[in-house]
Amino acid sequence: MNIEQFLKESAREVDEFIEAKLPSRGVPPRLLEALKYGTVGGGKKVRASLLFATAEAYGVERKVLLPLAAGIEMIHAFSLVHDDLPCMDNDDYRRGKPSMHRAFGEAMGVLAGDALLVEGLNLFMNDPHFVKTFGARKTLQVAQVILSALGGKGMVGGQVLDLEYQGRDVTEREVYEIYLRKTALFIQAPVVCGGILGKAGRKERRALAEFGLRLGQCFQIKDDLLDVTGESAVLGKTVGKDVKQDKATLVKVRGVEATERILREEFEAIKTLLSTLEHSFERLLELARFVVERSY
Ligand code: IPE
Ligand code: IPE
Ligand code: MG
Ligand code: MG
Ligand code: MG
Repeated sequence: MNIEQFLKESAREVDEFIEAKLPSRGVPPRLLEALKYGTVGGGKKVRASLLFATAEAYGVERKVLLPLAAGIEMIHAFSLVHDDLPCMDNDDYRRGKPSMHRAFGEAMGVLAGDALLVEGLNLFMNDPHFVKTFGARKTLQVAQVILSALGGKGMVGGQVLDLEYQGRDVTEREVYEIYLRKTALFIQAPVVCGGILGKAGRKERRALAEFGLRLGQCFQIKDDLLDVTGESAVLGKTVGKDVKQDKATLVKVRGVEATERILREEFEAIKTLLSTLEHSFERLLELARFVVERSY
């Protein structure tokens, strides 16, 4: 299975799981429709795949990880729905279709985002099979990792900085600070969770955490490059918005060529990092390569 097939297979399983598990009774039908619109059938499902690929190295099967993988993708979808709102990036187009607020209205954009976050956490924390398989302690541990990646020191804080630094002169350090919080910690989270659930030793856990964080930085660097060099039809989202809105990106500070070079160098560094580990993380390495080489 090549990496694109691996991602597609992860996406199919995650989508199926979400569709089956979304609460149907007692939820306003319009909200349910919005939740499906924001998750099922869209996105690369990179974060779910990172969890699968990390845990795979420890022999943990995908099937038992699905509640967490799907939950993480729902939480990610929340971040996209809110990111697109008119008061934030004001983006009309996402995953090849109108963004949530364009399709369902602004109030539903806010509320569906809220629900995706909460139901995403619910999906694994309230899954009896997941809790029984991994135990209450590990379930709590992975929830803590996810919550720390999302809060004021994490994604929400990063999104605040992203808006504050818009239209200003920024340093490279400030850009990396935004990247770390708004994106890298939540890319790191599934890698760290994979290590926790796979019962990785302390040394390997530490290395995985470093790998995840640096891959997360690469992820946003590539996203920002694609905003300049990518094609809207391939990406499924609007291009050229970062320049237009004068966003704080590495491309703005260093230019396209230097940014591409930094990305290549960083990939070589994280490749070396993975190769020093005791377990074999081939799939994870392939995913990292996909992250830095992708065109969507
Ligand atoms: C986009 O994330 C938002 C960022 C954090 C850069 P993805 O590129 O993973 O979006 P989807 O899920 O594939 O649509
Ligand atoms: C978003 O970064 C990061 C999130 C936490 C959602 P961007 O604003 O660059 O993401 P896109 O390009 O809209 O997907
Ligand atoms: Mg944004
Ligand atoms: Mg955006
Ligand atoms: Mg972007």
